[in-house]
Amino acid sequence: MDHPLYRELLAVLARDLEVLPDKPDETPANTLACLWNLAAGQRLAVSQIASTRLAELDEPAAAALKELIARRLSGVPLAHLTGRQDFMGIVLQASAAALVPRLETELLGWSALAKLRACEAAAPWVVDLCTGCGNVALGLAVHAPHAKVWGSDLSAEAIALARDNACFVGRPDVVFYEGDFAKPFDSPEFLGRVDVLTCNPPYISSGKVDTMPHEIRSYEPRLAFDGGPFGIGILQRLLKEAPRLLKPGGWLVFEVGLGQGDALQQRLSRLEAFAEVEAFADADGAIRALAARRRSATTEGTTDAP
Ligand SMILES: C[S@@+](CC[C@H](N)C(=O)[O-])C[C@H]1O[C@@H](n2cnc3c(N)ncnc32)[C@H](O)[C@@H]1O
Repeated sequence: MDHPLYRELLAVLARDLEVLPDKPDETPANTLACLWNLAAGQRLAVSQIASTRLAELDEPAAAALKELIARRLSGVPLAHLTGRQDFMGIVLQASAAALVPRLETELLGWSALAKLRACEAAAPWVVDLCTGCGNVALGLAVHAPHAKVWGSDLSAEAIALARDNACFVGRPDVVFYEGDFAKPFDSPEFLGRVDVLTCNPPYISSGKVDTMPHEIRSYEPRLAFDGGPFGIGILQRLLKEAPRLLKPGGWLVFEVGLGQGDALQQRLSRLEAFAEVEAFADADGAIRALAARRRSATTEGTTDAP
């Protein structure tokens, strides 16, 4: 856009905005376009700005835009300002109630979708643990309309947002429960019935959470990151509890932190409960998601302790 205010604000953002590596699409130009639209009265995610012409702003709207930019530069996440976030080709509502979905988590989402599409069941069952705003559960539900999908999270605020998001993306039938880890599914209705179990757990060590960038540390829920003293508290629970929920032949698909992939892949390969293990790497070759297939009952021996 060739407009003096646009040029002035783009220069400010180019100079002062810190673009986090896990939010690579939030460039100065995309940030400005999102906030410009917001000042003009439109809440848009980054994917939606390309198709929108920036409106002329009157004086109050221009003042509102400058205020939005000041808040963004003070560290408030873009998605908290716009209330919108892209994930797996859908637009979700975002707020401080839950982690803002990251682009890197799409690796887990698309890998799980491939497993789901390969399921023979007419209406495969999906359970998403640590669901946050429901992004993985709803990404799968939108792209696999034949699937029955549930999600759960310890945070009541996150679950309220996930429920809103289910309506927002047109899958109000997706059910979200509040509760500790797999407990909401600890019933005969679910045990041994799940075709695809997904999880993006907190996997950062408690000490490291305090050193994360201000934008994350000060504005996103600590519960979403803190995986205990070694970062693997919830991951250990996942390896222990997933086999009980999965159907024979069903898939566990989960995200891992940078540097955790190799050890977890080896550990999964040693567990009797799983027959196949697959690793998914990002563009830099780092393992960021793992999938493991529940061994069928006929070939199962004794399950190792995780
Ligand atoms: C890394 S975030 C993932 C959120 C979302 N699935 C995503 O991909 O953006 C981890 C989530 O785990 C939840 N959580 C942490 N401890 C939990 C527990 N003991 N039981 C259930 N959920 C938990 C947090 O509230 C947070 O929403």
